[in-house]
Amino acid sequence: MSDNVIIRAQNVQKTYNTGKVIVQALRGVDLEVKQGEMVTIMGPSGCGKTTLLNTLSGLDAIDEGVIEIGGRNLAKMGDKERTAYRAANMGFVFQFYNLLPVLTAVENVEMPLLLDYTRRIKAKEARRLAHEALAAVGLKQQADQRPTELSGGQQQRVTIARALVNKPAIVWADEPTGDLDSKTSQEIMDLMRRLNQENGQTFVIVTHSLEIGEQCDRIVWMKDGMVVSEPQQQHTAVPASGHSNGSNGYTNGHSSLQDESTILVPDLQAISHN
Ligand SMILES: Nc1ncnc2c1ncn2[C@@H]1O[C@H](COP(=O)(O)OP(=O)(O)O)[C@@H](O)[C@H]1O
Ligand SMILES: [Mg+2]
Repeated sequence: MSDNVIIRAQNVQKTYNTGKVIVQALRGVDLEVKQGEMVTIMGPSGCGKTTLLNTLSGLDAIDEGVIEIGGRNLAKMGDKERTAYRAANMGFVFQFYNLLPVLTAVENVEMPLLLDYTRRIKAKEARRLAHEALAAVGLKQQADQRPTELSGGQQQRVTIARALVNKPAIVWADEPTGDLDSKTSQEIMDLMRRLNQENGQTFVIVTHSLEIGEQCDRIVWMKDGMVVSEPQQQHTAVPASGHSNGSNGYTNGHSSLQDESTILVPDLQAISHN
């Protein structure tokens, strides 16, 4: 409604057809997020949180409805334009860090800049920006270490630095603290909050943790593929780290992770400056 809405979704519907089963993952989602807002999406495992994030960000196509990001309808763009638009305006942080193991922290972070075909950033400048981003997430000393030489929390900080290195307007995070202990989760949360406040970037964060949800500006509750006005499940017993939903949650997270990891790496190639 108001002019500073950066994410607008109307009647978004998405069905998965595996051949064996048809799953109505999103059944008419309406959502508006304002620029600079930090919102969480919460709800039971399988309710469509990851699907919503992936469709809003243009990773996945929708069957019905309209999604506008910064007033632009991604579905109406050609593939190349959409990839470039997403790369210039969005950063991604996932539960499992999606870092390339053979690269050092600084090499992982600079990759989106180096592979950018529109912006043609010089290697030296990319390296400088990557060091700057690592310093911003508190990893100045770890720049030359490989992911295996870093803790889980440090690896997630590297992915946040990578997501933010080109200063995207929107950061999408799918259970960014799901694999971390509660102290480290809180540190990651504090970091994202600080970046949100300092840079005015919009964050959309999927989480199982009510503790995290309550630190954000707003919680968007989902159930059965729809946004609902109130929590539909007891969440207070869920620890800040990890799933309490057992194999179901893991299976969903894992299957969508595979989709993400195949898309995420080539996608970084096109990151350009806004
Ligand atoms: N690639 C896929 N193929 C088929 N079904 C899927 C796929 N991804 C998700 N689903 C199904 O869609 C529903 C929503 O899944 P998801 O968005 O991953 O939920 P959440 O992130 O809330 O756990 C679930 O029933 C899930 O099994
Ligand atoms: Mg999910």
